[in-house]
Amino acid sequence: MDNIGFDYSNSFIEHHQIEYMQPFIEMAHSLLHDGKDSRGDFIGWMDLPEDPDKHELAMIEKAASRIRHDSDALIVIGIGGSYMGSRACIEALNHSFYNHLPIDRNRGPRIYYAGNNMSSSYMADLMDMLDGLNISINVISKSGTTIEPAVAFRLLKGYMEDRYGREESRHRIYITTDRDSGSLRALADGEGYASFVIPRDIGGRYSVLTAVGLLPMAVSGIDIGELLAGARHGMEEYSRTQVDDNICYQYAMARQILYGRGKEIELFINYEPRLNNLGEWWKQLFGESDGKDGRGIYPSPINFTTDLHSMGQLIQDGRKNLFETTLYIERPNHDIGIRMDESNLDGLNYLADRTVDFVNKKAFEGTLMAHTRDGVPNLVIRLPRIGEYYIGKLIYFFQKACAIGGYLSGINPFNQPGVEEYKRYMFSFLGRPKG
Ligand code: PA5
Repeated sequence: MDNIGFDYSNSFIEHHQIEYMQPFIEMAHSLLHDGKDSRGDFIGWMDLPEDPDKHELAMIEKAASRIRHDSDALIVIGIGGSYMGSRACIEALNHSFYNHLPIDRNRGPRIYYAGNNMSSSYMADLMDMLDGLNISINVISKSGTTIEPAVAFRLLKGYMEDRYGREESRHRIYITTDRDSGSLRALADGEGYASFVIPRDIGGRYSVLTAVGLLPMAVSGIDIGELLAGARHGMEEYSRTQVDDNICYQYAMARQILYGRGKEIELFINYEPRLNNLGEWWKQLFGESDGKDGRGIYPSPINFTTDLHSMGQLIQDGRKNLFETTLYIERPNHDIGIRMDESNLDGLNYLADRTVDFVNKKAFEGTLMAHTRDGVPNLVIRLPRIGEYYIGKLIYFFQKACAIGGYLSGINPFNQPGVEEYKRYMFSFLGRPKG
């Protein structure tokens, strides 16, 4: 079977430099796999694909089929790790214009997102747009106390109760939160909403393969079994300790080597617009995990060829403090031929009989050549195609690389103490009662 590949031959890293890091990888690997220090409290995502909770999966499929049956739209309320993974997968694995297709051509209800910002205009426009659509809500918050989703839920709950009444609304609200604690758990139990569990030992940004991501994905028609199968194979393959046999560890080490050479910014590049939000998920995973104790690579997703016309100049000619990681898709889901044109007024007949993807690939090759010739290191992750299996495996690849990279650089990749700082000030300015 085709497989995900990793190529560091354009990164100015020599094979022996990767080999020299084998002992460090073994140390990081055994710390992570043995879970012997406090960081090990949050490694529940590591074995999850091998033994997912069958009962929970059945409940997810049941809830998804009910939402698909009774709703034109699902609103996913959550922020950070509580929504970015599902959004990334829903956009990667569905039609590029999923929400705009006529209802009878779609695989599932439209999906909208709320609670990921604090904009009143966004919420007003959302509720305005929902009029006339039958809706369900999936509120996702592990702590149950995050202000953005909490406010969005209060508004949308009121909106639903005005439209459907309290009883009917109860059947249209789905909660994903901690098993026992937090106000969302209390709300779910008090109101009798259907609810799903975010395991204690899995942090938000590592939770996409739990109900956090799987319920919205199943609603959109994604085959979550196939996604988990990919992740399971990733789990096996990316547990090999020999770095030559483990592309995930190669990626983790290449990042550290480049960071050590002053490459402080990593551009995560795709050439497929449906992967734009996968880049946003990647950014959150690495940004919140890596950036602490005065260090960390700045993760910056970037979309080519679009951004070659906005950022290409800076990458080519600007300060050489960055490296690129390209997610290269071998086979597009669809390709389109370019036709011969008698008049050839646009001068494109040299491309007749070629395809759009052929041009996309040449743009990649040209960019790689131009950037590496000017000293920008390039890492390339090759995905055979965009499908559930490979996206599931890729998710595992990045989660494991992120965790191993954190251990290699001596930080805790599972906490986010810095995020609490702004909340402390904000809540004091809001006058939230203490306690
Ligand atoms: O990755 C994380 O832990 C965070 O990004 C959280 O997912 C985010 O802050 C939302 O937290 P919660 O699910 O508790 O509302």
